[in-house]
Parts: sequence; C-alpha cells; structure tokens
Amino acid sequence: MLEVAPICAAEALVDGGMGVRFRAERAGVPVSAFAVRHEGKVYAYENACAHIPVELDYRDGEFFDLSRRYLVCATHGAYYAPETGVCLGGPCPGRKLAPIGVIERDGAIWLGA
Ligand code: FES
Repeated sequence: MLEVAPICAAEALVDGGMGVRFRAERAGVPVSAFAVRHEGKVYAYENACAHIPVELDYRDGEFFDLSRRYLVCATHGAYYAPETGVCLGGPCPGRKLAPIGVIERDGAIWLGA
C-alpha cells in the first residue's frame, strides 16, 4: 500500500510566518515548492520566481516581505500576492508563480486539488 506523507503539520504554517519547503512534481518532473499561510488559508507554489526561475527564499522558508502581506523574491525583489501568485511589482509585474494544489485536512497539509 502506498503511504503518502503530509507536507507538514497544519500548525507549522503561521499566518504571514515562515513557509515550508517541499518537493513536488509537475508533469513527472520534480520541482522545488513551498507552502505558506495567508489570512488563514494555505497556498503553495513552485519555488521559482516568474522573473528568472531561481528560488524565492534566500534563507530557507523566508517567503514573506517585512509587511508579512506579500511573497517576495530575495534576488531582485519581485513581490507577489500570496492568494493568486500574481507579481504586483518588481521586474516581472503581471507574471505569476506556478500554483501547487494543497489541502488542509486532519491537522496537516497535503498535496491535493
Ligand atoms: S529572480 Fe526573482 S525578482 Fe529577479
């Protein structure tokens, strides 16, 4: 039987706090991803900036800017809406982070639609 592990415990994601990095797959290709909590809801994206596909966090898990309201790329400062992944400012306005489907259930965060 296939055992599927959760990404993390639900309580590991605090509103506007540190994100959790994890591995996911897109079309069978492993990708780096992260999950954060924003206004009570969990969002996850590939950990690849829409400007240049480098990981957003310079320090592992630091995805929010100082206001704790936007996701920010540590390389050139693009900032993104946590709920949509749309870049709101910086070098790639209007472009988007690639979403990863996650669900919160039974006190944990799981990959899912
Ligand atoms: S690589 Fe992210 S803003 Fe340039």
